[in-house]
Amino acid sequence: MSEGAAKKEERRKFQAIKGTRDLLPPDTALWNRVEQTAHEVFSTFGFGEIRLPLFEETELFRRSVGAETDVGKEMWYTFQDPLDLEQIIKERQEAGPNPYADKYGDLRAALFEVQRRVQALTLRPEATASVCRAYIEHNMEQWPQPVKLYYVGPMFRRERPQKGRYRQFYQIGAEVLGVVRPEAKQDWEKEVGKDAAIDAEVIEMLITFFDKVGLQGAELSINSIGHNGPDCRPHYIGKLYNELLKIEDKLGPDSKRRIRTNPLRVLDSKLESEQSYIEKLPHITDSLCPACSAHYAELKHELALRGVRYHENWRLVRGLDYYMRTTFEITAQGLGSQNAVCGGGRYDGLVELLGGPPTKGIGFAIGEDRLILSLQESGKAPAQQGRDVYIAWMGERAHATAIRAAKDLRKAGFSVELPPVEQKFGKALGQADKLGAKYALILGDNEVAEGLWTLKTLADGSQAKFTEPDLLDHLRKSKRVSS
Ligand code: HAM
Repeated sequence: MSEGAAKKEERRKFQAIKGTRDLLPPDTALWNRVEQTAHEVFSTFGFGEIRLPLFEETELFRRSVGAETDVGKEMWYTFQDPLDLEQIIKERQEAGPNPYADKYGDLRAALFEVQRRVQALTLRPEATASVCRAYIEHNMEQWPQPVKLYYVGPMFRRERPQKGRYRQFYQIGAEVLGVVRPEAKQDWEKEVGKDAAIDAEVIEMLITFFDKVGLQGAELSINSIGHNGPDCRPHYIGKLYNELLKIEDKLGPDSKRRIRTNPLRVLDSKLESEQSYIEKLPHITDSLCPACSAHYAELKHELALRGVRYHENWRLVRGLDYYMRTTFEITAQGLGSQNAVCGGGRYDGLVELLGGPPTKGIGFAIGEDRLILSLQESGKAPAQQGRDVYIAWMGERAHATAIRAAKDLRKAGFSVELPPVEQKFGKALGQADKLGAKYALILGDNEVAEGLWTLKTLADGSQAKFTEPDLLDHLRKSKRVSS
């Protein structure tokens, strides 16, 4: 690199990595309001917050999300955790005689150990797998069942960025996990009513949350994708596969590939030219086993009891491996092609697949970035939040008084701007205006000597004098009136 180029490189400005972004005020006020509403609404349904690590063993996601799905491996941020070789050597020395000793003795054992320990880690592409891992790790099957958890935080997928699709994005999700006691196990597949009521309640919670944050035009779609028994989904997939082979030459390359890797996902296709063919394919809800069919009917009944409006979408199969029976999605306005603001479903058996006891599970995740976008598009964004009071002070004595006034006003809950150096009153009032302050508190030597402070209302320019306690009273009253 030439010297000039090196200098240029040194002075280069950094930018956020493609697909990531900074969230700035005033937008962050809306993010906080949305998250606060989630905390409030979810706790009224008995959910507690879980805070999870941002990365896990890659194997956890491979086994749960599935490497061949849409959220599959090529979209993960995976990295190798450096090995602590010193620690391995120390542990091996402490372990005593080497059980693998032969011609190669220690070398073979050491390599074996290194291979075992090389651990690929992945930034979480979603959090359901982590919640299940935590359920097992903390023996939550001993807690009162079902365990209801929710989480808020960033997820990472290496997707092609576009409006509403990022590589670091945020989810607000909730999961209900309930261990299946051994005595109930034989009835597991047959059990119906209780289960679907949980699915419906989870969806009701979601709709309550969306109503409370003011999301407009939200539409709930539901479906059932049955279970893995031979008389249910596999039977349907066989039928679907045969039908897909018949129309293979009419399909695009993605769908063609999916016929063999994951035929259900063909139903998800948005490719215009395929739609008329896909629409004629057999519906999964006509091929469900009696237990799954009853479960789906019960879900619809339970939703109706709760006054939740939905429409059935037989093509809603979802892009992760772990779903069974109920799947659902919510779309919202103003999002273009990435209009799914929430997705979820039932995943009985996932905890067992990850080494835990037989457990039922149902949950959802809201795409918070998309939710915020939709709220902003419909004019729900808060305006730049102005200060309540700008303190315009001049003079040594006024400075000390201004510091005390700022402290007292902040303690009473007002947002206060206290300029660090004195300014001419004219300049200070201009500054107060720019910051959108409601009032300017004018403190000069006269005010301090008299013990009467001048409060200027910036909207109409009116001024009044107050003693210190009266001023607080006045501001409190006017805040109550305006809120
Ligand atoms: P998901 O459908 O992969 O499900 O994601 C849920 C939501 O996250 C989507 O509906 C969308 O709003 C948002 N989302 C996904 N990818 C992106 C992205 N790249 N940029 C912005 N937003 C995105 C899950 O993650 C499951 N864990 C949901 C679940 C929980 N199922 C059961 N429990």
